[in-house]
Amino acid sequence: MCGIVGYIGEGDAVSILIESLKKLEYRGYDSAGLALLDDEGKPQVFKSEGEISQLESILPKLSSCVGIGHTRWATHGKPSTVNAHPHVSGSICVVHNGIIENYQELKEALESEGFIFVSDTDTEVLAHLINKYHTEHPGDLAGALKSALEVVRGSYALAVLSEEHPHELVAARKDSPLIIGLGENENFIASDIPAILKYTNRVIYVDNLEMVTVKKTSVQVFDLEGNPKTKEEHIIQWDLEAAEKAGYPHFMLKEIHEQTSSIHETLAGRLQELEGDVTFEELGLDKEQIRKLQRIEIIACGTSYNAGLVGKYLFEGQTGIHTDVDNGSEFRYSNPVLAPSTLVIAITQSGETADTLAAVREAASYGCKTLAITNVVGSTMSREASNTIYTRAGPEIGVAATKSFISQLVVLYLLAIHFARVCSMMDADRVRKLLSELRKIPGHVDRILMDKERIQKCAARFSASKDYFFIGRNINYPIALEGALKLKEISYIHAEGYAAGELKHGPLALLSKDVPVVAIAPQGHTYDKILSNIREVKSREASVIAIADSDDNEISKYVDVVIPIPKTDVILSPLLTTVVVQLLAYYTALERDCSIDKPRNLAKSVTVE
Ligand code: G6P
Repeated sequence: MCGIVGYIGEGDAVSILIESLKKLEYRGYDSAGLALLDDEGKPQVFKSEGEISQLESILPKLSSCVGIGHTRWATHGKPSTVNAHPHVSGSICVVHNGIIENYQELKEALESEGFIFVSDTDTEVLAHLINKYHTEHPGDLAGALKSALEVVRGSYALAVLSEEHPHELVAARKDSPLIIGLGENENFIASDIPAILKYTNRVIYVDNLEMVTVKKTSVQVFDLEGNPKTKEEHIIQWDLEAAEKAGYPHFMLKEIHEQTSSIHETLAGRLQELEGDVTFEELGLDKEQIRKLQRIEIIACGTSYNAGLVGKYLFEGQTGIHTDVDNGSEFRYSNPVLAPSTLVIAITQSGETADTLAAVREAASYGCKTLAITNVVGSTMSREASNTIYTRAGPEIGVAATKSFISQLVVLYLLAIHFARVCSMMDADRVRKLLSELRKIPGHVDRILMDKERIQKCAARFSASKDYFFIGRNINYPIALEGALKLKEISYIHAEGYAAGELKHGPLALLSKDVPVVAIAPQGHTYDKILSNIREVKSREASVIAIADSDDNEISKYVDVVIPIPKTDVILSPLLTTVVVQLLAYYTALERDCSIDKPRNLAKSVTVE
């Protein structure tokens, strides 16, 4: 996730772009840059590693009325000045949010034509492509952008500035957000509304596969064939604080909603549907090494640990590789039994958790290969592990992890599919089916989000409870743990996650009519078993909230509330049941008037033992 901005008008472009970028820092803040045309129409590019304030400190006094800017959250290439945007080719300057999936092949083709690449980013291919087409048809910046977009695959919200076109900016969008702000003798481009709200509340939402030519006094929107489109102007009524949360009352709710796009980002460029496989540039394990793996050891803390448990079901169920999951804090003092044939996977959204880092160092001392799954490019974990896969969920502000967890799960699914394919445990057809189901998950998540009032009502009904249980079986058992953890973290209700079959070995003694039990029960090979567990619970008069498939007509006979989820392959169901337990925790905390984004005693990144 990154933020882009653009300005053309009569105002001071430097201060406007800097102010706008600061409002987008929530989208990333590891490096930033501006490209401006000065009073003489000469391009000036400034870039810096670190936050926007760092960029601000290196800017000279400069008079300019047109420019573009970027705040970066690295996905390809580490945070550095050279990788910061704008990227430049000839007279073309580009800022981009998104991922160009086929950048490697485009880069090779452009290099063979003589284009020289200076960064490790996928975006640089866009700059060279636009430059190439602009050189072939000078005078038509929008046409050059259109030609470039015809050959790229992936997602983008981008803005282009050229010294040969000082009176216009061009922009385009596919799967990454983009808006245009309308002013008097000035217009704005931005990833999100907070960036422009100080200057105007008149907005046009750019839709997927649309391009825009933005001038001082006009804005024209086209489809990618170049046909003009009529767009509605919207008046934004939010104040700035609400706008930073995109109108949501809390970052947590915003981040729960962002899961539709973060799943997309995590998948981008990694699915090979034709071959029936998955590819990770960053894996660092060839097929032979994967086939020789005897064991996987997953190390993580908190929510990431629950993701690791889903990983255990996936690796063992799909690849047959024995997998253990340990908390970093336990593992580091446990005299582990490890051999070089063990792959150690460290899962950590922040990449900075002290216990996980110490455990990975311990594992590395046994000669094991270490693979990090993290959300933060350049984090300590990414520097210390042998290899790193990034989850690309974008910055998460709410302390309770939501979208970073879903993205960790998606990476684990992809890894398990790849390993299963390499170890001949899954054929290409099965992989293709799973990948096609995975592609549908963002749409399914969206449907759950549209039905959130049902979950809110349910949360309100049980919000006065002192204790809660979450039960699940098999691959949804870790989601029962995650549901209980989320509820504890933000609503301060005592909650426990249990393997449903274990209730009879203790917790049944605690159940009564005042203790709600959330039963995660999509249809699968343990469905009948969990129905029996639900009956055990009901006979102790506890209320049962079932999370069940939307086509399940049976379960409502036995429970008090049903929260339906769209039907998917049962092994993918945690990606949907998770969203329900997140919303249940959120609305319970809301009902109890808790500090949702900053729960008491907790921190987003725990860098102490
Ligand atoms: C803290 C956070 C949790 C997170 C845990 C592990 O406790 O509040 O949300 O799950 O740390 O963090 P990590 O960055 O390693 O995933």
